Amino acid sequence: MKLLVTGGAGFIGSNFVLYMLQQHPDYEIINVDALTYAGNLENLKSIEQNSKHTFVKADICDAAKMDELIGQGVDVVVNFAAESHVDRSILEPDVFVKTNVLGTQVLLDAAKKHNITKFVQVSTDEVYGTLGETGLFTEETPLTPNSPYSASKAGGDLLVRAYHETFGLPVNITRCSNNYGPYQFPEKLIPLIISKALNDQPLPIYGDGLNIRDWLYVEDHCSAIDLVIHEGVNGEVYNIGGNNERTNIHIVRTILEQLDKPESLITYVQDRLGHDRRYGIDPTKITNELGWKPKHNFETGIRETISWYLDNKEWWTRIQSGEYEQYYAKQYGERL
Ligand code: NAD
Ligand code: DAU
Repeated sequence: MKLLVTGGAGFIGSNFVLYMLQQHPDYEIINVDALTYAGNLENLKSIEQNSKHTFVKADICDAAKMDELIGQGVDVVVNFAAESHVDRSILEPDVFVKTNVLGTQVLLDAAKKHNITKFVQVSTDEVYGTLGETGLFTEETPLTPNSPYSASKAGGDLLVRAYHETFGLPVNITRCSNNYGPYQFPEKLIPLIISKALNDQPLPIYGDGLNIRDWLYVEDHCSAIDLVIHEGVNGEVYNIGGNNERTNIHIVRTILEQLDKPESLITYVQDRLGHDRRYGIDPTKITNELGWKPKHNFETGIRETISWYLDNKEWWTRIQSGEYEQYYAKQYGERL
C-alpha cells in the first residue's frame, strides 16, 4: 500500500508515520509537509534511513504538486496538515482558512482525479462546539464550531463529505479529542506546562482553570486511524476518544506533583476569547463497529509523557531557541 500523509512533520502526523512504519513495514509513505513553525523534521530522525519513507517539503495548497505526488500510485491519503492552534487562529484566521479549507479541497481534487481507494480527513471534536455539564459528542451532534480554527476544520470536513456525496470519493472523517504524548509542540497545554515548570516559570491558566478537555494518548489516535484506513465504511464519520475528561487545573496540578514543583507557579491569566467550556467524546461507534480500544489510560500516559519531555529536553529547548528550523537545511537541504 502507498500512503500520502500530509502534515507528517507535526505532532500527530510524525507519531502516525513512525507508528505505521512499525506496524506495516512493507507500506510506502510519502510524507508531505510545508514545515511551518509547527513542522519539525527532528521528529523523524529515527527513520531518516528508511527507504519506505520519503519526505517532500510542499504546501497542500499547491495543486500541481499534490496532483504530481498523488499521481505516483498513491492508494490512501491521510490529511493531518493543518493550522492547529486555537490561540493563533484568534490572532491570524486567514492562514487557517487557507490551509484547513482550501488545502483540503486541493487534496480532494487530486485524490478524485487519481482514483485513490481511501481519503481520511483527520478532524477534531472542536467542530461540535462546546458541551454543558452533561452529554457527549456523537457523530450526529450538529457542527457548531466556535473558534476560527474549529470553523476552518468544519469547513474542510464539509468539503470531504461533499466529495463523497457528489463524486463518490471513498472518504472517512475522524474526529478526535485532545491528544498528548511525545513531539507535541510546546505551545499546547501539556508540553507548555511541563517545559515552563521545569524552567520554574509562571504557568498561565486561562480563566478559572475549570474548562474540561478529553485526553487521548497520541498512539491510541494513530491506532484508530490505522483501523479506519483498513476497516472504515466509506462516507462514515468516526469519533475517537478515550473517556478521559479532566479540568485544566487538574492537568496542571498532576504535572507539578510529578515534577515536584510548587503550586505557586500557577498563574491565572485572562481567558481565551470564545473559550469552549467542555469537550467529551462518545467513542461507541468506532468501538462497536470497528473494534477499536485505546491501550493507555491517562495516569500511565501522562507519566510516560512527562518522562519523555524530561529525557528529550534537547528536543524542546531547540524549539524554544528556534534551532530546530535549521535542521531541514542541514540534513535534507542538499538531497531535496
Ligand atoms: P501540528 O500543528 O503539530 O502539525 C501540523 C503539521 O501540518 C505541521 O507539521 C505543519 O508544518 C503542517 N502544515 C501546516 N500547514 C501546511 C500546509 N499548508 N501544507 C502542508 N503542511 C502544512 O498539529 P497536530 O496537533 O499534529 O494536529 C494534526 C491534525 O490533527 C490537525 O488536522 C488537527 O486539526 C487534528 N487534531 C489535532 C488534535 C490535537 O489534540 N493535537 C486533536 C484532534 C485532531
Ligand atoms: O480537542 C481537540 C483539539 O485540541 C485540537 O483540535 C487542537 O488542534 C488542539 O490544539 C487542542 O485544542 P485546545 O484548545 O483544547 O488545546 P490547547 O492545548 O491550546 O488548550 C487546552 C486547554 O488548556 C484549553 O482549555 C485552553 C487551556 N490553556 C491552554 C494554554 C496553551 C491554558 O489554560 N493555558 C495555556 O497556556
